[in-house]
Amino acid sequence: MTTYRLHVNGRTHTVDTEPDTPLLYVLRDDLGLCGAKFGCGLGQCGACTVTLGGAAVMSCLVPVSAVGGRVVGTVEGLGRPDAPGVLQQAFIDEQAAQCGYCIAGMIMRASSLLAHTPAPSEAEIRRHMMPNLCRCGTHMRILRAVRRAAAMLAKGKP
Ligand code: FES
Repeated sequence: MTTYRLHVNGRTHTVDTEPDTPLLYVLRDDLGLCGAKFGCGLGQCGACTVTLGGAAVMSCLVPVSAVGGRVVGTVEGLGRPDAPGVLQQAFIDEQAAQCGYCIAGMIMRASSLLAHTPAPSEAEIRRHMMPNLCRCGTHMRILRAVRRAAAMLAKGKP
């Protein structure tokens, strides 16, 4: 067991775990942040996507020992059910979820795009979102939601 200090969604947590424990397991099992989902465990689906130092990562592939001092962002950090963040509201407005299993990962991948490219082109959105899969086939609604969020940000929504 090793002790790790993790900075997640603006809070610092201390966790005792094995160095090779995937960040996804720590988030879900130790911190109770269950937005990120276990899909494939192989870096192939994106259901586990969170941000790490602002970049989208598949947290099933990131051992907790590799996190270091970088800030971790999960979907829980973007807003609350009664006060959703811009991306969360855009996904609601576009009804982008069907079963919803992929959505937290989709939102976090999109957040990493909009943080650095607030007015992305259609090609940039599609290229950036490509690693994340939706088995329900709601990709077109997801793309609309990302475009809507970008438009909301352009109008000055926080
Ligand atoms: Fe991590 Fe599928 S669960 S990419």
